[in-house]
Amino acid sequence: MAREVPERTPFATIDDMPPPMRAMVLQALERMAADPQIQRVRAAAWRALDPRPGQRLLDAGCGLGEVARDLAAAVAPGGEVVGLDASAVAIAAATERAGDVPVTFAVGDLRALDFEDQTFDGVRSERVLQHLDEPDAAVAELVRVTRAGGRVCLVDTDWTSLVSDGLPDDMVASMWQRATVARQHHATMGRTLRRRLVRAGLVDVVCEPVPLWFTDPDEASTVIPVFNRSVPREAGFIPEELWDPWWSEVDRAAEAGELLAFVTIWVAAGVRP
Ligand SMILES: C[S@@+](CC[C@H](N)C(=O)[O-])C[C@H]1O[C@@H](n2cnc3c(N)ncnc32)[C@H](O)[C@@H]1O
Repeated sequence: MAREVPERTPFATIDDMPPPMRAMVLQALERMAADPQIQRVRAAAWRALDPRPGQRLLDAGCGLGEVARDLAAAVAPGGEVVGLDASAVAIAAATERAGDVPVTFAVGDLRALDFEDQTFDGVRSERVLQHLDEPDAAVAELVRVTRAGGRVCLVDTDWTSLVSDGLPDDMVASMWQRATVARQHHATMGRTLRRRLVRAGLVDVVCEPVPLWFTDPDEASTVIPVFNRSVPREAGFIPEELWDPWWSEVDRAAEAGELLAFVTIWVAAGVRP
């Protein structure tokens, strides 16, 4: 049976954001999907999930639904893909983008899935758990709806792996701590995925760190919010007193060709016994 959950998650507030901020978040998700480094992450997750024709798959927290659309081709003929997200805005955008691709998109909460036990051959969830209050309860839900022998594949960032070069060390230390680590519910989520799957009782658990690095602030901005100039000042990612010095240092490092930013996204997967 699905669990009951009391509150909405922080990222689900996409729907409640002022329209400009909401548009920015949707655009950020779209840019991520097109980013070659995120595509490497997704390729690793694809191998770990190992989709096959005829399977029924779930992408929980699917955002704009690109992966769900690709999976639809992999499970044909005879398969089915469900893309689920807490945001009605994201699901509307995913549905529109899907066109004729046979994917079912639905609004739902991965902490309380509206599916019977053991209904999917494979389940994936990318960069969602870091935003949740009770990630292990969410993992238990993903495992619950996976059939025996099916795979659960998780993808998430380890924000504490974020390092850089070419920017002043003291400024960076403050930025990383306040603007990324302290803002995430679970800054270390990526590296904990393997353990969470083991504790959830999965077997044959595998994991793979995918390193992402950027030498151009515009490219970095796709994945690392503090390099994203379209994130409004009032969103608070960049501490107020660092706003001007930060952008002038980023511009200086970029102009000198010295900028380097690095972060790790982890992929982990296991089989429900
Ligand atoms: C960082 S985005 C990642 C989206 C997508 N997986 C991707 O890789 O592009 C996080 C997504 O998780 C969704 N989300 C957050 N909490 C959720 C929940 N409890 N149930 C389902 N989706 C949730 C958000 O609406 C958002 O679309």
